[in-house]
Amino acid sequence: MLRLQKITITHFKNYGITNFSFTKNVVGICGLNGVGKTNLLDAIYYCCFTKSYFTLSDTLNIQFDKDGFRLEAHFEKNKEPQKIICINRGVGKKDFLVNDIAYDKLAKHIGTLPAVIIAPDDVEIIIGGSEGRRRYLDTLICQLDNEYLQQLITYNKVLQQRNGLLKRFAEQGKIDTLLLDVINEQLINPGKIIFEKRTHYTQILIPLVENFYRQIADNNEKIQFNYVSLLQAESFEMLIQKTFEKDKILQRTNAGIHKDEITFTLNNQAFKQIASQGQRKSLLFALKLGQYQLLKNYNKISPILLLDDVFEKLDEKRMHRLLHWVCKENDGQVFITDTHKQRLQNIFEQLQIDGEIIQL
Ligand SMILES: Nc1ncnc2c1ncn2[C@@H]1O[C@H](COP(=O)(O)OP(=O)(O)OP(=O)(O)O)[C@@H](O)[C@H]1O
Ligand SMILES: [Mg+2]
Repeated sequence: MLRLQKITITHFKNYGITNFSFTKNVVGICGLNGVGKTNLLDAIYYCCFTKSYFTLSDTLNIQFDKDGFRLEAHFEKNKEPQKIICINRGVGKKDFLVNDIAYDKLAKHIGTLPAVIIAPDDVEIIIGGSEGRRRYLDTLICQLDNEYLQQLITYNKVLQQRNGLLKRFAEQGKIDTLLLDVINEQLINPGKIIFEKRTHYTQILIPLVENFYRQIADNNEKIQFNYVSLLQAESFEMLIQKTFEKDKILQRTNAGIHKDEITFTLNNQAFKQIASQGQRKSLLFALKLGQYQLLKNYNKISPILLLDDVFEKLDEKRMHRLLHWVCKENDGQVFITDTHKQRLQNIFEQLQIDGEIIQL
């Protein structure tokens, strides 16, 4: 069992110094626009992922006019206390301690406190560019497989180097094939491992997602989810040779797992083009709950679920089915934000959820 019991947030976004204690499995977080509901969820996310879900630059997480931030969270994982302290002094490197012991590499923390977040802008995963869908997949697999994250870090570093090299070749008007061969090999190795792992995990993930969609939609809508990679047709070695002419002209790498795609169809048509907003939202929940279920199956522990503003756009029936699954059929801890306290209270009553509500 994984539970967050309390968190102290200091100079993180709009928070000065604030303590929160949680005693129930289902925690509602209520308050008007801009009071810090999303920021509280993000602080929790931060403790699980060593980074914010929303802001790429850590400087933006520091409260305006302050020099750094500090998060202290007390979790309980299978009866063992897990005290997380994260201190960012605004000078790049940050301290991240678990039970007062620092990590040599932050990446090692990923997956130890599994969590899934659903935020309003996440529909971008479905309607936006392919990068968001790869990120969705990576966030999941990184939590399941520490080697995946290491390989991904290596791959991205080598990809940058290769692209830099292609630019240099173009500038100098000549190609150093020896150097290119070396860098190709350095890219191919992690690329293949990532491809294999993505193939493996999506095979397990896809039926879970399709099943959740059926449950949320409760009708005959048939959705399909496909993982598509250039590496499915040819080996990475062959691909990289074949696309080299194109790489040379465009001065960047055109083949590899950074081009992988996930596609969705609804009744055999491209989902993006025909789905309604509610259907998009249903698919988003299915994707995230699929993630949740997979993490749970692997870790034998329910992840923490962070639901930000989920009440918009889903009809009441879909919302009830969803919350019933999330809060009643599940033993994981759930945090739900809402601007309407009454709405949340009503749902808790209707579904007989023994939750608590924190008013910001
Ligand atoms: N680095 C920062 N320093 C100070 N305040 C910040 C910082 N970053 C964000 N904020 C403030 O935090 C507030 C937003 O908080 P948050 O997004 O958590 O609100 P919310 O309660 O989720 O609102 P909504 O209901 O609109 O989603 C804004 O007022 C924003 O200006
Ligand atoms: Mg918000």
